[in-house]
Amino acid sequence: MKKISKAVFPVGGMGTRFLPATKSIPKELLPIIDKPLIQYAVEEAIMADIDTLIFITSASKHAISDHFDPMPDLREKFMRQNKIQLLEKLDTLPLSITRVFIPQGQPLGLGHAVLQAEAMIEEDEYFAVILADDFIVGDNSTTAELIQVATDQRAATISVEQVPEKRISSYGVIAPDTWTGNFCQVKSIVEKPSVADAPSDFGVIGRYVLPHKIFDYLKQTQEDKNNEIQLTDAIQGLVDENLLRAVKLSGQRFDCGSHAGFVLANLHVAMQNEELKETIVEHVNNV
Ligand code: G1P
Repeated sequence: MKKISKAVFPVGGMGTRFLPATKSIPKELLPIIDKPLIQYAVEEAIMADIDTLIFITSASKHAISDHFDPMPDLREKFMRQNKIQLLEKLDTLPLSITRVFIPQGQPLGLGHAVLQAEAMIEEDEYFAVILADDFIVGDNSTTAELIQVATDQRAATISVEQVPEKRISSYGVIAPDTWTGNFCQVKSIVEKPSVADAPSDFGVIGRYVLPHKIFDYLKQTQEDKNNEIQLTDAIQGLVDENLLRAVKLSGQRFDCGSHAGFVLANLHVAMQNEELKETIVEHVNNV
């Protein structure tokens, strides 16, 4: 199998759950303390040896390319002032990494966003898809693990974790076959089922490794009732060919597409910092 070296970041979503913040700030730039979600996602891709980042954007998302801009003027100023720590904070993306921005055109869902990357992916190539609002703490290896299993199995891979009943209907859900270590074959996958219809409690996390063939399935996928093309529906095509493995998440995931997940992610990261931890504990004891 050809080395997996490209990652697609769908960042064209409207972020309606975070209005009014997302009127002018893309949701992917919301920070966990001081680092935007998209920065964490990109760092995870680089850890997985990805060298080409493909952002599927919408008209109002210029701030994302600005975030990865080297900003030579500011860099020079910090150099002159010998502000090394600030200088390091400007290093959001090594220049050796290729970045490509493709407009989504219309907000027709995750599947439609991924389809826009077709011209960038060769026929025999697998690629990663990373949804920045799934924030994962741990050793940053989720995408690397998916690539490893995809390469060994010559199959597509997705990341899953067991989710509580009340959150089942927020995610894609799989029917797992027998587990071999941390991965399994997938018997079926369904987008946002009710608890009664869910084939298991293994919910899909926003990390995928997919073959070029997914574009054929995406083109055949019908819009759902919200006029969106769902990636999950196209992935069922891979399942039918026995071409999908699910990999159990090894880190801890916070769904930063929801207020609760976003607040908990910030709290979790803040608690790793002794000074912030002390302030939080003091505050919590006083409320
Ligand atoms: C998307 C996918 C869903 C997946 C989820 C992970 O949903 O459609 O299958 O479980 O990401 O975060 P969204 O969060 O865009 O509603």
